[in-house]
Amino acid sequence: MKSATDLVIFGGLGDLSIRKLLPALYRANVSNQLAQTTKIFLSSRGVSSEQAHLDIVERALQEHLGSGEHEQTHWDSFKQRLVFVCIDPGELDDRWDQLKAGLDSTGNASRVYYFAIPPSIYGQTCANLAAKELVTANTRVVLEKPIGYDYESANEINAQVAAYFQEEQIYRIDHYLGKETVQNLMALRFGNVVFESLWDNKTIDHVEVSIAETVGLEGRTGFYDKAGALRDMVQNHLLQMLCLLTMEPPTKLDADNIRAEKLKVLKALRPIDEFNIKANTIRGQYVAGVINGKAVPSYQEELDEVSKGSTTETFVAIKAFIDNWRWAGVPFYLRTGKRLAERFAEIVIHYKAVSHRVFDESAGPLEPNRLVIRLQPEESMQLTLMSKELNRYGIYMRPATLNLNFAEAFKSSTSDAYQRLLMDVMEGNQALFAHRDEVDQAWAWIDPIIAAWESEQVTSQEYPSGSWGPDSAEPWFQTGNR
Ligand code: BG6
Repeated sequence: MKSATDLVIFGGLGDLSIRKLLPALYRANVSNQLAQTTKIFLSSRGVSSEQAHLDIVERALQEHLGSGEHEQTHWDSFKQRLVFVCIDPGELDDRWDQLKAGLDSTGNASRVYYFAIPPSIYGQTCANLAAKELVTANTRVVLEKPIGYDYESANEINAQVAAYFQEEQIYRIDHYLGKETVQNLMALRFGNVVFESLWDNKTIDHVEVSIAETVGLEGRTGFYDKAGALRDMVQNHLLQMLCLLTMEPPTKLDADNIRAEKLKVLKALRPIDEFNIKANTIRGQYVAGVINGKAVPSYQEELDEVSKGSTTETFVAIKAFIDNWRWAGVPFYLRTGKRLAERFAEIVIHYKAVSHRVFDESAGPLEPNRLVIRLQPEESMQLTLMSKELNRYGIYMRPATLNLNFAEAFKSSTSDAYQRLLMDVMEGNQALFAHRDEVDQAWAWIDPIIAAWESEQVTSQEYPSGSWGPDSAEPWFQTGNR
């Protein structure tokens, strides 16, 4: 049964809503995942006619849906759900009454407020909702990343929201947790004895976790130049992936148990500070280059005049250790960067070499096993094994790969991360959302890295767009530099 829930998006016609949320909701409507009475309120500051707003949404969908997804009948049905309201979320005035009246008229008791607005106004927006009696036990709030800029600011924002909403009502979204293969990590680990029994420092030598992008700033200069790759991608997406990859099996796959296990991983991360910063981190910034045959400008050229000369990192690589019984001594190489050679996200588990070689020299080299879990662009898993080459006298060992492509195996295309997570919020399932303690703990690990970069003057090394990042990162990543 689908919950009869209304959704209010603050920043309803902003960048995130246009690119991600509206296409996700459109798809949810096409797949019949929304209750019949569900309305979607798009709140924006601009005052325009309803038709002008509808045109913006339709254009956004045409641009951001996949080919063939936009159909007249689907659009006609979707637009019936849209209600446009004009509110400045940081101001309390009588424009909120329009929203209240609209929500009261749907007859749905349950409501979700999605904050696709700057975190600096989360607190005031909550206060305004409360002042207009729009916060009830049946309301939930979704907070977009980044929550804060460091531990202190994140704590302040979380405290402001907590003054109006209970932790059970707060959904801190990290869209990487909505990606199928990230969830599949739990399915693979806890549904198969073959992996979980080979998932520790006795069998694993090292692990690579990469999110490589080909895009540059995409017009987000103001935000990105203050954040950089560490805050934008590592504090949230990469650390969340690392947690699911390395956490102990929870007793049950519910929100409390999963979050408790993830938190233990974050607490076990070995601190990186001024004493070990140079050995464990690499920062980079892209210069002009060529991606997919197209010339692209440098980071500096993409910046506006005031930010020129900025040393913000667009690439970061970290050698991280999890100091616990299972993972002691295993390096986890985390990497993310913009304007790299290819767009992909993947986890590569490098197993140890066999403990004793029984083959003689003529059998050739023995490569350690490797498990590659791909999140994007395709969702797949490859296990590289050593086997005997066929039709050759004697034993000559060659690597051979078992290849599982999930879309082919299940004859279905994979779903959209935001769609999955929005449906979870509507159904009240917090399992794939971060708890306040996780956000705090992640910042507690990130802050000393930023402080040490400053105190030890670790600057961003230049790397050409279309490469795999600074040369110094190459030895850490055997799989990216293909
Ligand atoms: C966002 C970051 O959270 O994730 C962006 O702010 C980044 O800078 C994006 O481009 C990457 O997401 P995806 O799903 O395209 O890999």
